[in-house]
Amino acid sequence: MRTMKVWSIVFTALYFSIGIVVVAGAQATPATTYQESCGGCHLAYQPFLLPSGSWEKMLSRLPGHFGGQDVDLDPGTVKILQAYLKANAAENSSTKVARKIMDRLGRSLPERITDVPYLQHKHRKIDPAVFKKQSVGSLANCIACHKTAAQGQFSEHNVSIPR
Ligand code: HEC
Ligand code: HEC
Repeated sequence: MRTMKVWSIVFTALYFSIGIVVVAGAQATPATTYQESCGGCHLAYQPFLLPSGSWEKMLSRLPGHFGGQDVDLDPGTVKILQAYLKANAAENSSTKVARKIMDRLGRSLPERITDVPYLQHKHRKIDPAVFKKQSVGSLANCIACHKTAAQGQFSEHNVSIPR
């Protein structure tokens, strides 16, 4: 029992040190910084899903992020995220989805992607019971239905609602 505990500590330590070497070895770009800072708890939502004003508001409220746990990031990282999210936000993106999001947004700055009028419109026909399924949970769980959500592809050809 005791030796097992020791081994599990050794393996855990080894696992994390390998992780650190891999992360340190990879080139840190703003995109990877974003992925690492914002992709741990949920999909690292594509910056083009919200206007920069929304991202700005969110970054100023990282303690108590959406009424939950604090997102603890150092000021240098927050600066990188600010620039990255702004440069790729809906109003600065050339993707078709971003243009449609902006067309329907007006002056509003929704805090949630699920409050974006275009996205609400696109999902309005989905049976509300679908969101009660454990495999879905909420509209924010894009990847449950859009298999290529992590690549920023939300095409109607790549979507399937879990049974
Ligand atoms: C510690 C875990 C955690 C981290 C790290 C985290 N989030 Fe979140 N995020 C949450 C939780 C929990 C929610 C709220 C879920 C709910 O109540 O609907 C949330 C919600 C969101 C939403 C709203 C989704 C919607 O439309 O409902 C966005 C956008 C978001 N996070 C962006 C970010 C960004 C940007 C970062 C990095 C700066 C980040 N998150 C880091 C846990 C996290
Ligand atoms: C419960 C399943 C489900 C979830 C969760 C979901 N979607 Fe969808 N989404 C769909 C379906 C189904 C369609 C196709 C709707 C139609 O064509 O009538 C769609 C359509 C879309 C479209 C339009 C695609 C196009 O080419 O016009 C976008 C953009 C989109 N979703 C983004 C998102 C994002 C971003 C999230 C997460 C915040 C999300 N979806 C969450 C099922 C889902």
